[in-house]
Amino acid sequence: MQKFLILMFFCAFLLQGCAPKAVDFEQTSPKEKIVLTFSHVVSDASPKGRAARLWADLVYQRSGGRIEMKIYPNGTLYKDGEELEALKKGYVQIIAPATSKLTGLDIRWGIFDLPFFFDDLEQVHQLADGPVGELLRKSMRDKGIEVLAFWDNGFKILTTDRPIKNLKDFLGLKIRIMDSPILKKQFLQLGAIPVPLSFNEVFEALENKKVNGSENTPSNLYSKKFYQLQSYVTVSNHGYLGYAVLMNSDYFNSLDQETRKILLDTLKEVTSWQRKAALEQNAEDLARIRNDQNIKIHDLTPEEKEEWQAVLKPLAYEIIPLFPKDLQAEILKTGNLN
Ligand code: LMR
Repeated sequence: MQKFLILMFFCAFLLQGCAPKAVDFEQTSPKEKIVLTFSHVVSDASPKGRAARLWADLVYQRSGGRIEMKIYPNGTLYKDGEELEALKKGYVQIIAPATSKLTGLDIRWGIFDLPFFFDDLEQVHQLADGPVGELLRKSMRDKGIEVLAFWDNGFKILTTDRPIKNLKDFLGLKIRIMDSPILKKQFLQLGAIPVPLSFNEVFEALENKKVNGSENTPSNLYSKKFYQLQSYVTVSNHGYLGYAVLMNSDYFNSLDQETRKILLDTLKEVTSWQRKAALEQNAEDLARIRNDQNIKIHDLTPEEKEEWQAVLKPLAYEIIPLFPKDLQAEILKTGNLN
């Protein structure tokens, strides 16, 4: 009997060895699937939100579904002030904050905040895509953050609960700003009181009159309906608002070469598309705001613009000297200090 059992066991062992192995091909992939989380604070319908979706879709297609990017808009995952920390800790892989919000890491990001310094987006791109952008990328890399691209929103306009007819109308007005030293000084110079608030706090602050006004691009004002909480819009185009698309350096360096290539090649294409789309969308959203019968629109006249510029342009001297000499020359050649 014992011999019989040993024989049975031996046969079962042999049979198992000969049987075809069960393989679930749907579960097995030559490369691991990669899931990236992209958190941002604005609407899906904004220039940043639309570009994030396009990037995610293209990367998914081009990687045959291997690279998936999950987008969390509207600050649903992390809000301003939380998202940089989350990126550093690796809780999220991609964020795209306004450059103004990076001034806490390196004050020189404030170059993009300088009022009336850029005449158009081309000048901004010249700086962002040239040696100045390179220096800012390097400074972030030293802090463990990779700058993957520069995206636009556009030029900011002003919303207020009272008309701004001349500079003295700013006196004592509380204006919501992004937390940036140059933006703070901009409104102090105008006699107003700058109030740094994160983006998700703006609606409530305007609704409950905690602030008298805000500055933002038409696309942000329109997509978040901020302008509907105010009676006056001054089309001042006084400053630029744009983004740096960021990834944690350690995470970026841990990705295989093919994944990095798909992400970066696609991002390059998306960035060209994004910059055009942002320009068009801001023009369209400004037209929509103009159509609102409840809002009084004032376009800054050339004379008024000169007055604002006289007060605000000197802020450039607070930021430009912080760059190395050769870059200072580059900045002065690009921007407008006259
Ligand atoms: C803001 O806080 O007003 C903007 O930075 C929001 C954004 O990301 O466009």
